[in-house]
Amino acid sequence: MGQAGVRPVPLLALKFLIAAACLGSSAALNNGLALTPQMGYAPWNAFGVNVNETLIKETADRLISTGLAELGYTYLAVDDAWAEKERVDGRMVGNKQTFPSGMKALGDYIHDKGLLFGIYSDAGTHTCDGYPGSIGFEKEDAEDFASWGVDYLKYDNCYCNPEDPVEGRYAAMRDALNATGRPILYAMVSRGMRPLSGAALLQVGNSWRTTADIAPNWDAMLRCLDNTVGLSRFAGPGHWNDPDMLEVGVGMSLPEQRSHFALWALLKAPLIIGADLRRIDDEALGILKARELVAVNQDGLGVAGDLLWKEGPLEVYGAPISGGARAVILFNRHTPFPLASKITVNWHQLGYPAEFKATVRDLYAEKDLGVYQEHFTATVDPHDVCAVLITPHIALPYFDKWRPWHRSTASTENAANIEIA
Ligand code: GLA
Repeated sequence: MGQAGVRPVPLLALKFLIAAACLGSSAALNNGLALTPQMGYAPWNAFGVNVNETLIKETADRLISTGLAELGYTYLAVDDAWAEKERVDGRMVGNKQTFPSGMKALGDYIHDKGLLFGIYSDAGTHTCDGYPGSIGFEKEDAEDFASWGVDYLKYDNCYCNPEDPVEGRYAAMRDALNATGRPILYAMVSRGMRPLSGAALLQVGNSWRTTADIAPNWDAMLRCLDNTVGLSRFAGPGHWNDPDMLEVGVGMSLPEQRSHFALWALLKAPLIIGADLRRIDDEALGILKARELVAVNQDGLGVAGDLLWKEGPLEVYGAPISGGARAVILFNRHTPFPLASKITVNWHQLGYPAEFKATVRDLYAEKDLGVYQEHFTATVDPHDVCAVLITPHIALPYFDKWRPWHRSTASTENAANIEIA
């Protein structure tokens, strides 16, 4: 027998590893939150460390006045740089210059608006920008966060001892949060971890970052997307893959922003707005308010979508939606402009009999495109998407059981899907 090469981990072994990782942890996260992906706002993408309480309060007001809160964007989180550089008597405190009223008062303001309050810390000695981290202070910090009315913790992974297993550091804060008795959504920034570490974290947090930081440009957005493709099987109610926060309204062309938002919605990514809501333009706001894409993201079946087919720069993504429908994104990554391409999704790629009739609805335009059989084709501009809901006229009970990672279609089988328009 020849020497064994590197083989993919068989599913059974993977299940065993997940089970072992779960048994090894002292307790499961028990907050009952994020049954659908969290939605909200964090200032990092637009403001970096330049945050203050006025900005957060104005953002709270804008979340309400724009109608975003009503659509579900309810977590309003401060990101890094909210704290004093040093602990005071061993406690983390709000920065006296930028958050003079203190974090409890900020939480009260946010709650009075009917929103939820998010904060940020780190599983190391310092945050990524050098503010105090929580390692060794998990109990104190979790108690303080709870006493300020915190509803959401983004927990980063800078300034860590590489010898300390990440699962342990993240489990320590999970246990401290659990012990407060306050349900606090736990968003882990376990950057760059691949599926097996992600699997070990399944019971630890409500979401984990699948990538390094996003930036407001096409390449960075694609990097975050590509690093999340193939991981849909690890996501589900209470625990989501997080390809990082939204750059809609921060940078990129309009088609690129449309693509970014639709893909994040379908991947069941947390939808955390990062734009300056006081100055956002109407087009970007319209994308964030695309209610039928938000509905895909928040669908009760809670199955993350994934890549179904790819041929060069043309891709098809799909997700099952409760009641037997599918959300499908036809995505054209072509450059240079202007090279529109026809992209097709075939019913058999979605687990439907070819002869079934289905209504296809454009999720951005919010209008039905017609009734189709066997397949649907759209001409998609470069860097843009066609995002549709495909609803068969007869929904068989097993349609809800279809999963994007059990597809039978090999990616090369459908070369006929491509035509340059
Ligand atoms: C890391 C995170 C970012 C942001 C910064 C803050 O880079 O990935 O999302 O929170 O830290 O310093």
